[in-house]
Amino acid sequence: MSDKHDAGGVTTTGHVWDDDLADFANQPPKWWMLGLTTSAIWCVIYFAYYPAVPVSNLQSFFKGLGGWTAIGEMEADQNIVDEVRGKYENKLKDMTPAAILADSDLTEYVTRSGKVLFGDNCAACHGTNGVGAADKQGFIAPILRDDDWLYGGKIDDIYASITGGRQGVMVAHKDVLSAAEIDTLANAVAAGKPTSTPLFAEKGCTACHGPDGKGMAVMGSANLTDSVWRFDGSLEGIKFTIANGVNAGPGSRDAVMPNFTEAGKLSDSEMKKLAVYVYKFGGGQ
Ligand code: HEC
Ligand code: HEC
Repeated sequence: MSDKHDAGGVTTTGHVWDDDLADFANQPPKWWMLGLTTSAIWCVIYFAYYPAVPVSNLQSFFKGLGGWTAIGEMEADQNIVDEVRGKYENKLKDMTPAAILADSDLTEYVTRSGKVLFGDNCAACHGTNGVGAADKQGFIAPILRDDDWLYGGKIDDIYASITGGRQGVMVAHKDVLSAAEIDTLANAVAAGKPTSTPLFAEKGCTACHGPDGKGMAVMGSANLTDSVWRFDGSLEGIKFTIANGVNAGPGSRDAVMPNFTEAGKLSDSEMKKLAVYVYKFGGGQ
């Protein structure tokens, strides 16, 4: 130590740089030491309590003394959720969709979970929120938001559509009608006046579409007077439908609503929820 150096009476480490820079040997402040010690103790407790060390005996990991697991924590949270839901779910089991609809509390609960179920199971074909979605052939599964129903828009009809699936069959007419007859029928249908040609009754269209051409919910035959088209509604498109039919084998138009009971993808409660959810789109009758 050079005698030029004056540390003001404070103990130094004895190292001096550049002739006058010295290291003080002060203790760090008390608050700082306290913090350091506390965090060191905290680390030890934490390491002991939680599974913190990957390898303890080369076979497994140290599981911690507290018995905590991430899955356990998730399950505990899940139990809380299930308890809240359980009340509703138990009620749902024995209720008809119509009864659920009559209970505003349940309806609110059901529409919330219905939204997720719909997104997972239905939106691919019916579009987000049931607005309809076109597939590669431009075919749109029915819009579920409007009041135009093939099979009826009562809550029980909607429930039946989901639980049983739907497959409206319209036979192909290319072998039983001449091109001229198909042309006449297509023009009448395109104009929204199918019954304006006697062919409509003579060729048996009325058997499925009804004497007035407005469709029959029992078989899901389209209303041909409302200018709402399931399939291509151009003159050529209508001719194609009449000639090749719907769900009538190769070459016909496909329009199959899967049977969700058979597919086993949804529980009965889930299908009830969806029925109420779809009804609540606003088109329910
Ligand atoms: C693979 C595509 C597809 C999926 C997935 C699908 N649907 Fe459908 N859905 C259809 C088609 C196609 C029809 C019309 C059937 C017909 O034309 O005969 C239909 C018809 C319906 C109808 C009757 C509409 C009416 O006008 O009467 C309801 C209600 C319905 N679907 C609800 C649902 C719900 C709810 C789901 C989800 C659980 C769902 N669909 C999943 C294709 C689908
Ligand atoms: C066996 C019953 C049946 C007969 C017979 C039948 N249809 Fe249909 N038709 C249906 C059904 C069911 C649908 C709806 C199919 C669907 O949406 O899945 C349909 C759909 C249609 C469509 C499509 C409507 C749209 O919105 O795109 C047209 C057009 C049509 N029929 C015209 C006729 C004409 C014209 C005749 C008489 C030559 C006829 N149908 C005879 C059952 C029938």
